[in-house]
Amino acid sequence: MSLPCTDITPFVDRRRRLLAQMHAAGGGIAVLSTAPQAERNHDAEYPYRHDSDFYYLTGFIEPEAWLVLVAGTTDRAILFCRAKNPEHEIWEGFRCGPDEAIARYAFDEAYAIDQLDTLLPALLLDQSVLYRPFAAAGSAQRKLRRWLAQAEQQGRGRRQPPAHIQDLRPVLAEMRVIKDASEIATMRQAARISAGAHARAMRAARPGLHEYQLEAELLYEFRRHGAQAPAYPSIVAAGANACVLHYAAGDTVLRDGDLVLIDAGCEYDSYASDITRTFPANGRFTGPQRALYDLTVAAQQAAVQATAPGRCWNDSHEAAVRVLAQGMLDEGLLQGSLDGVLDSGAHTQFYMHRTGHWLGLDVHDVGDYRQGAPSDAERPWRTLEAGMMLTIEPGIYVRAADDVPESFWNIGIRIEDDALVTAEGCELITRGVPVDAKEIEALMRE
Ligand code: GLY
Ligand code: MN
Ligand code: MN
Repeated sequence: MSLPCTDITPFVDRRRRLLAQMHAAGGGIAVLSTAPQAERNHDAEYPYRHDSDFYYLTGFIEPEAWLVLVAGTTDRAILFCRAKNPEHEIWEGFRCGPDEAIARYAFDEAYAIDQLDTLLPALLLDQSVLYRPFAAAGSAQRKLRRWLAQAEQQGRGRRQPPAHIQDLRPVLAEMRVIKDASEIATMRQAARISAGAHARAMRAARPGLHEYQLEAELLYEFRRHGAQAPAYPSIVAAGANACVLHYAAGDTVLRDGDLVLIDAGCEYDSYASDITRTFPANGRFTGPQRALYDLTVAAQQAAVQATAPGRCWNDSHEAAVRVLAQGMLDEGLLQGSLDGVLDSGAHTQFYMHRTGHWLGLDVHDVGDYRQGAPSDAERPWRTLEAGMMLTIEPGIYVRAADDVPESFWNIGIRIEDDALVTAEGCELITRGVPVDAKEIEALMRE
């Protein structure tokens, strides 16, 4: 199925900006394909998901498509896509086809995918640099190598294929790390839908339900609001399962007195959201649960305060770790001084992951977390800028252990929101579902 983009302007603008960068580096050609389809088992395929870089430059979501950008005397944006095929379309649905692709997606030229082998080698001739994604699927790499060899032959020594090959991914990653207005609008919608899904799961929760039944509430809410899929496999973890960081929703029964951790977000029009909430199965936090929960809230607040333009990427993590480590000392989970804990890393027994990541077309989105030349061994953390989108997700995970007070055993808590860096600070776009313990308890009483 090919959905028309409502507004093609942002995609055209990104192609124009990429071409401008290629011109600034002396011109050249960029070639990239969308993602391959993957078989799940006999005669059944995984739901198709296009390549994020490809989508970023095209808005085109059909499989079997290639984009060629030529930064030359005249710039050219060329799409290769599946030809119209009435018989296939009876089985698999609409195919855009080259003619309509030009009209809908504003390419300069478009051809059927079966012309790729014929046309691509000639396009490579006389180009100084070839930009391609270095980590593309093996089949795409093999095709490019073949086209380069064919171009060499066609050139007969008088015309040459590109002498230099550059990785396209870091160039696109730098563009993708700052979101434009259309991306921010789409991500707000993804965030709204996911927040509603978390609120729905909280209202539905009660002892006796299975984790998969809460997962079903999330999926129902995602789809009924038009989200195409979960952005990643949903985590619905009851009791001790919450201490398994990448636990997938399973068949464990929610027990009275358990906490439930849900980490789930939808993908809406190709953009991810990523929310975690933790709440009591019976609607009331116990004392020890509440102590660690409020500690996590305080850690998240400290991280939010440290998320602003001009601050560096690691500031929010350091702020969250400081609050969590002090809380671990106050609650008797750790002994010693704050500086001693931070120096030794003792807190990583209970908080072993980082406080956030970039968010965008991919849930763990592309973009460097450090700045400076890749050759610098000690590259400094990157400075935050308005338009960046990231998660803020501190947590605390206490497994049963002899050296840990029993009242905290099997408590796993994470609170995760999606933050847009603004001119003044950051805006949490996922607060359509509460974080405050009392507000959660009130919501669960509804
Ligand atoms: N849901 C994956 C993450 O929070 O990073
Ligand atoms: Mn996350
Ligand atoms: Mn998450």
